[in-house]
Amino acid sequence: MPDGITSVPTPEPVFPPFEYSKLLDKANFGDWRDELVTSGYTVIKGAVPRERALEARNQAFQWLEDFPLGFKREDPSTYKNEHLPNHHKGGMIHGYGIGHEQWVWNLRTEQGVIDAFAKLWGTDELIVSFDSAAVMLPNRTDVVDAGRWEHIDQSPSRRGLYCVQGILNLNECGPDEGGLMILKGSAALMEEFFDHFGRGETRTWGPVDFYSFMDHQHQWFFDRGCEWVKVCCEPGDLILWDSRAMHYNVRPTGKRDRTCAYICMAPAKLLSDEDRAARKLAFEEYRGTTHVPFAALHVRPHVPGIRVDTGLPDPNDTGIPREPRAASDTVLKLAGIKAY
Ligand SMILES: [Fe+2]
Repeated sequence: MPDGITSVPTPEPVFPPFEYSKLLDKANFGDWRDELVTSGYTVIKGAVPRERALEARNQAFQWLEDFPLGFKREDPSTYKNEHLPNHHKGGMIHGYGIGHEQWVWNLRTEQGVIDAFAKLWGTDELIVSFDSAAVMLPNRTDVVDAGRWEHIDQSPSRRGLYCVQGILNLNECGPDEGGLMILKGSAALMEEFFDHFGRGETRTWGPVDFYSFMDHQHQWFFDRGCEWVKVCCEPGDLILWDSRAMHYNVRPTGKRDRTCAYICMAPAKLLSDEDRAARKLAFEEYRGTTHVPFAALHVRPHVPGIRVDTGLPDPNDTGIPREPRAASDTVLKLAGIKAY
């Protein structure tokens, strides 16, 4: 047993059984779902055509350049906080209503993305998270929250599958280009870990479906054959991972930016009336949600983020997208507002 962790008698997880909890119990699909079961993640090649993925990257950079902050993609000297909107971990952006920009919604309505989640859940009647995007620029010198932050995006108090998360990759993403780090094999072992060591302590930033690990907890997984993998992929590839897989992200160390969108879909029928109403409000007011499309929304009133360069609320962060999404039929269905 690793230093610092002791076996704790555990009460049964408190959440009610989930309809799809056993969906990924066995690897017998004969397609990419098997890797999702055994490794905890998979890469769906070419979910979006390469040209459209690169065009979305272009739109992400245009979005950055359109702030009156002096950012220019061709000028690496502007790759600094003072020229960029607020962001976390070197490039994850959550303010500014970004989750409801048209270019972000365009990625959510890509047929290849919808088809991947439809295959996973066995239905094409899906809803999507109002999540965000990331542009992690290379050669940053002033990132304030660097470092590892290994976590899972599922409460230790759930049994079985609950959520599968997605990253739609918009640029070349090789070994030096930053991106998703996954502890391969950890998803399948996660329940056993918490059964053994207890669920009493939950380190979370608010939403219940989050647990942050400490270094001394990793060895238990290493002893069972888990290993860290930096997921590499190409523009248009969709990474899917089980929210029980331990993960974090890394910033690019090479010359290229890491640009992506976070997209998570689940069956629309899981949406309760209460959460449907909360999502409608979030949609209309351009707010974000957690990665779980049907629950644990964590919708908060918009508050402008505090800029690290001035220490003041960002006057550019109105919470309203520059080009708000059009409410098409597909958008309204994926938003959970219009019934299938
Ligand atoms: Fe995460």
